Amino acid sequence: MTVHVKPIRWGILGTGGIAHKFAQGLQWAPGAVLAAVGSRDPSTADAFAREFNVPHAYGSYSELAQSPEVDVIYVSTPHFFHYENSLLCLENGKAVLCEKAFTINAREAQAVIDYARQKGLFVMEAMWTRFLPVAVRLRRMVAEGLLGELHSLAARFTFRADYNPQGRLFNPALGGGALLDVGVYPIAWAAMLFGEPTEIHGIAHLSGQGVDERATMLLGYAGGQTASLFASLTTVSPDRSTLMGSQGYLTLHGRLAHPTRITLSLKNKPDEELDVSFEGNGYQFEALHVMECLRQGKLESEIMSLDETLSIMRTMDQLRQQMGVFYPGETA
Ligand SMILES: NC(=O)c1ccc[n+]([C@@H]2O[C@H](COP(=O)([O-])OP(=O)(O)OC[C@H]3O[C@@H](n4cnc5c(N)ncnc54)[C@H](OP(=O)(O)O)[C@@H]3O)[C@@H](O)[C@H]2O)c1
Repeated sequence: MTVHVKPIRWGILGTGGIAHKFAQGLQWAPGAVLAAVGSRDPSTADAFAREFNVPHAYGSYSELAQSPEVDVIYVSTPHFFHYENSLLCLENGKAVLCEKAFTINAREAQAVIDYARQKGLFVMEAMWTRFLPVAVRLRRMVAEGLLGELHSLAARFTFRADYNPQGRLFNPALGGGALLDVGVYPIAWAAMLFGEPTEIHGIAHLSGQGVDERATMLLGYAGGQTASLFASLTTVSPDRSTLMGSQGYLTLHGRLAHPTRITLSLKNKPDEELDVSFEGNGYQFEALHVMECLRQGKLESEIMSLDETLSIMRTMDQLRQQMGVFYPGETA
């Protein structure tokens, strides 16, 4: 039996590394039509369109935002531009899936969210991890109380990037730094499990350009839980994170953006390996969720809610304040 779902027409804004991966991911999302791409440069848009067989290629972001050929736009530019790019799409009546970090700070995030709510348009942070089978499984185990009372998350996300002072990872003008690029993942896992922290401590080692190359975060929650988190652009570390409770713990193996397996270690029981594998590159799950929300006429996701995105941005603002990391236009 063939199931017919209403096709949803995607536009991709920006043609960098993650835009390519998202375009590949859409190939595993039934009902997704990659209808258009927009780049600052017409020849780059054309090249992307050829690579992914996209019918409409635009040489500016505003032409993409105005296009009658798309329902929803995936914003995949460096963080510093998420605010203006998301607003541009919303102003032109398009739903938005915007890459993490959602914006540079909570003030910008609030403005985007307020505008989307005022216009009655869907917007969501592209926290793709949340929609992977590993996160679905973990949420279910926690809801079933498998670990007992949750006590603490020890999580990290590090990699060693080639130093490029102009590139988006280290350049303050592009929103550089470990916290917004990779720290957002452990913070989002902690937010999903424990809510918004009531106590926040951050220490960072800053680069010569004044962004956090590596950062340690300690968070405390009203429910008595704690999180100790580490994010770095210059460190090699074991890709393992642990969620601990009164009856056992879970180990997430692999990069925290997309853990590849879970080990469940319960008190007085042998360890159990849980299979959370899937086909495709993983980006299809967030796309499928967005399409389901749009078909149901929802204005926001219940799994990655806008209040949670705001809470994550507030946490990162406070951490950056303590670390002494400020972006152009922000004051200490
Ligand atoms: N979900 C994930 O797994 C994941 C992974 C990596 C990155 N990300 C997020 O995705 C966003 C983009 O990351 P990326 O690694 O794809 O970056 P990237 O490779 O540097 O590409 C960014 C794209 O943004 C556009 N852009 C607009 N203004 C720009 C400027 N002033 N400088 C550079 N590029 C500019 C460019 O597209 P045009 O030239 O076509 O306009 C560029 O190709 C970031 O927010 C990052 O956090 C998410």
